[in-house]
Amino acid sequence: LTSSKYPALKRSEVFKQLNSDDLRYFESILTKAEILRPSDSENLSLYNEDWMRKYKGQSKLVLKPKSVEKISLILKYCNQEKLAVVPQGGNTDLVGGSVPVFDEIILSLNNLNKIREFDPLTGIFKCDAGVILENANTFLNKHDYMFPLDLGAKGSCQIGGCVSTNAGGLRLLRYGSLHGSVLGLEVVLPNGEIVSSMHSLRKDNTGYDLKQLFIGAEGTIGVVTGASILTAPNPKAVNVSFLALEDFDKILKLYGKAKSELCENLSAFEFMDKESMTLTDIHLKGELAFPLGENEHPFYILIEVSGSNKSHNDAKLESFLEGAMEEDLIIDGTIAQDETELQNLWKWRETVPESCLSQGGVYKYDVSLPLKDLYSLVDATNARLISKGLMSENPNDKDPNKPAIGATGYGHIGDGNLHLNIAVNEYTKEIEEALEPFVYEFVQSKKGSISAEHGLGLQKKNYVKYSRSPIEIQMMKDLKHHYDPNGIMNPYKYI
Ligand code: FAD
Ligand code: MLT
Ligand code: ZN
Repeated sequence: LTSSKYPALKRSEVFKQLNSDDLRYFESILTKAEILRPSDSENLSLYNEDWMRKYKGQSKLVLKPKSVEKISLILKYCNQEKLAVVPQGGNTDLVGGSVPVFDEIILSLNNLNKIREFDPLTGIFKCDAGVILENANTFLNKHDYMFPLDLGAKGSCQIGGCVSTNAGGLRLLRYGSLHGSVLGLEVVLPNGEIVSSMHSLRKDNTGYDLKQLFIGAEGTIGVVTGASILTAPNPKAVNVSFLALEDFDKILKLYGKAKSELCENLSAFEFMDKESMTLTDIHLKGELAFPLGENEHPFYILIEVSGSNKSHNDAKLESFLEGAMEEDLIIDGTIAQDETELQNLWKWRETVPESCLSQGGVYKYDVSLPLKDLYSLVDATNARLISKGLMSENPNDKDPNKPAIGATGYGHIGDGNLHLNIAVNEYTKEIEEALEPFVYEFVQSKKGSISAEHGLGLQKKNYVKYSRSPIEIQMMKDLKHHYDPNGIMNPYKYI
């Protein structure tokens, strides 16, 4: 078996090819509804292809077990038989980690989707890994709580997928990362052993904090089947403002001011450049009016404030914005007047990822950089694509011979996290070679991270060394080998 998508990769001889005995075994432990084969009506390619339509595997089998015990039996068997497995949640991964490379079995968590328990006093929430993030949040809202993570893919991504990528999202600056809010996990190891540590304890220093190993492991050492999460009280008052700024330096000044004046009320500080808003405008096709008249400013910021008292919350935001106007930090701005306007402003931010993809394809780089250097990577990337003849100097000049449309930047200022997206008409080798390792070298030179929140997956397989030392990489390999000696879990990816 070879892959035209990945000519440099070879299917490992170590892994067995699926045969009729294997299928018989899976049929003996699972119902018809838990097995998806090419002959089934549900489309197998939905599970084989990623959200960006950039990565595509050739799996002939998707297993969708309804219980943890069945997952344990599946992994035990696959480990014995050396059948490779890719765990899959909502398949919204952005680094090629959630789909097979060759014929790995896809282990979907779609059917493991029950909310297990919730304590309204402590806010501790326990659920199966396959619960969709939005469903978890809707449940919590009814109890006046919220999930401490929010992101544009909330309607599809699952708690287990978010834990496995250590997703960051839109409000990390206020609620912290999942390394802090996950209190316990239930995990099935590659040999089928079930590790149940769905703790409800805020403090528990009993030796190594083993759950942390699985947070961000991207399905390489086990399958997360349940999570215990410390959720947050739902703020009674939320408001959002959308602002225009003339240069990146002013964004940093505004951020400093927001931290000191909005303090505990600041729950999001997101930035978008003009190009990302232009693509979003095209993609939304007039469905929503641009919040500030025309899209004519170089940068935009979405600020969210939230708290327990509406008049206090609103007054703080208004006085902050007045000050920012007087100090000449912002050119224009608007504040949401009601819930619909608030949701619409968020829509301009949350639709950016699919807008960047909408022209045909997108190369995505999710990096951490010192704030002062954050946007310089976008400028450097545009200059490089122009110098290589892959992009027009004038963004309005739609030259069909230039496959790249342009580099855009947006992201989470509060987390020092830039999303560099290169919108393209099609994926080509020339563009990829112009971008890699160029982007990673740039990030390394600024002492940043090549993987801020999306993970490494297949995309960054060859580039881990730009953010980790040889000894750190060796320690990761040792861990992988210890828990997954046959290497069946999500093979060919970053480790
Ligand atoms: P999948 O995509 O199915 O899988 C992700 C990885 O985890 C894969 O390596 C997979 O093998 C593994 N995995 C999945 N489930 C399990 C499990 N139960 N046990 C073990 N391994 C598992 N990410 C951010 O950090 N911040 C954002 O703001 C953000 N916004 C996004 C917006 C959009 C529109 C999209 C498409 C993606 C976004 N992402 C973001 C990226 C993505 O990482 C998250 O959507 C989410 O964390 C992935 O969850 P999932 O259930 O779809 O996992
Ligand atoms: C975001 O912040 O919108 C997400 O991380 C997704 C993306 O970068 O495309
Ligand atoms: Zn993000």
